[in-house]
Amino acid sequence: MQNFDYQTPTRLIFGKDVVEKLPEVMKPFGKKILLTYGGGSIKKIGLYDKVKDLLKDFEIYELSGIQPNPKYDPSVLDGVKMCKEHDVDVILSVGGGSVLDCSKAIAAGAKYDGDPWDLITEKVKAQSALPIVDIITLAATGSEYDCGGVISRTDTNDKIGYMDPLLFPAVSFLDPTYTFTVSKKQTAAGCADAMNHIMEQYFCEDSTLLNDGFMEAALKSLMVNARKCLDNPEDYNARAEMMLDCTYGCNGIYSLGNSGSSWPCHGMEHALSAYYDITHGIGLAIITPRWMRHILNEKTVGRFVKYGVNVFGIDANKDPMAIANEAIDATYKFFESIDIPMHLRDVGIDESRIDEMAKHVADNEGLEEAWAPLTQEDIAAIFRASL
Ligand code: NZQ
Ligand code: ZN
Repeated sequence: MQNFDYQTPTRLIFGKDVVEKLPEVMKPFGKKILLTYGGGSIKKIGLYDKVKDLLKDFEIYELSGIQPNPKYDPSVLDGVKMCKEHDVDVILSVGGGSVLDCSKAIAAGAKYDGDPWDLITEKVKAQSALPIVDIITLAATGSEYDCGGVISRTDTNDKIGYMDPLLFPAVSFLDPTYTFTVSKKQTAAGCADAMNHIMEQYFCEDSTLLNDGFMEAALKSLMVNARKCLDNPEDYNARAEMMLDCTYGCNGIYSLGNSGSSWPCHGMEHALSAYYDITHGIGLAIITPRWMRHILNEKTVGRFVKYGVNVFGIDANKDPMAIANEAIDATYKFFESIDIPMHLRDVGIDESRIDEMAKHVADNEGLEEAWAPLTQEDIAAIFRASL
């Protein structure tokens, strides 16, 4: 078990109607708020009016239109400009992971004189960042409880994960009722994203009984509760459990003391989203079973056996390779059962840029050092197997 030094400074306020506490939470940060949100879902669900009413004594500046797979230009640049122009005290992100990730990059950029892209690419380390409060409205990324954000730059086909301890939200509000309106597609994509966050940590060099227990339970909870949310979008308990499953998924708490993961599926999926702007969780669901099949060998089979027996209840007395292949089939079938399209062609991706994307991933994601190393040829083969 490896040493670790772990802290999550984010206060979680969870449950129905907790947003009533917003004024008292925002007060200590100051009067001037940059309110960030997406394409309008928060207006449709009444959350925008609620927030504006609760914060009527504050000075609010609004950055709207933040798109899924949030863009450096225009969103991050516009937000940084507004924060500097109005001497903003705090950012309030209301929406999904894209809004919150964009807000994290804005928070750092607002306190930096240079090009925010230097911070996002981690060429320059942020010295400070504006405080961030969020009301998360989509259970998926876990951005509400981690210090990362993923920002896309269309002119260079980059989609980069930006991590910095300064970017932990100060306070995250999680009210499951605000996820009742999340579409079936986004509910399924959110489940796939969160499952993948856990699998990226689970398939590693060495883990512990405790961590494996956490992760196996979280994977089972996600599959059971996502199914319930799809059957009944207003099932409060299912939405609440799924929300917390997602919040814990990306926080890192599941792999304290573990070693040897490198998040290969995320490295590959970010290229798919950067080049084709597809939904992140959908991209992950498509490539993960193909990645599994590709890396299955005598060295990795043990982790697949544990996964198959403890998550899918496969008979432990079977041949290890048979268990592993059955577990991979079960993973594929689960994603298919929540109506995720399981081929890249189903989401508009063909053979034409596979080698270019594989090179981009090989050059930028360092997957040759992964627990199951991947060369550029491996990555291209996994993309091709996913077509
Ligand atoms: O734009 P609006 O109108 O708000 O609509 C959004 C958007 O169209 C809609 N939506 C959000 N909440 C809703 C709702 N619709 C109805 N009811 C609600 N309550 O859903 C659509 C997708 O929203 P988005 O924020 O893009 O989804 P998600 O939360 O899955 O975020 C995806 C982004 O997060 C990044 C992904 O790469 C992607 O860019 N990730 C962030 C991570 C992190 N910070 O740790 C880790 C993840 O691995 C992931 O990479
Ligand atoms: Zn993800």
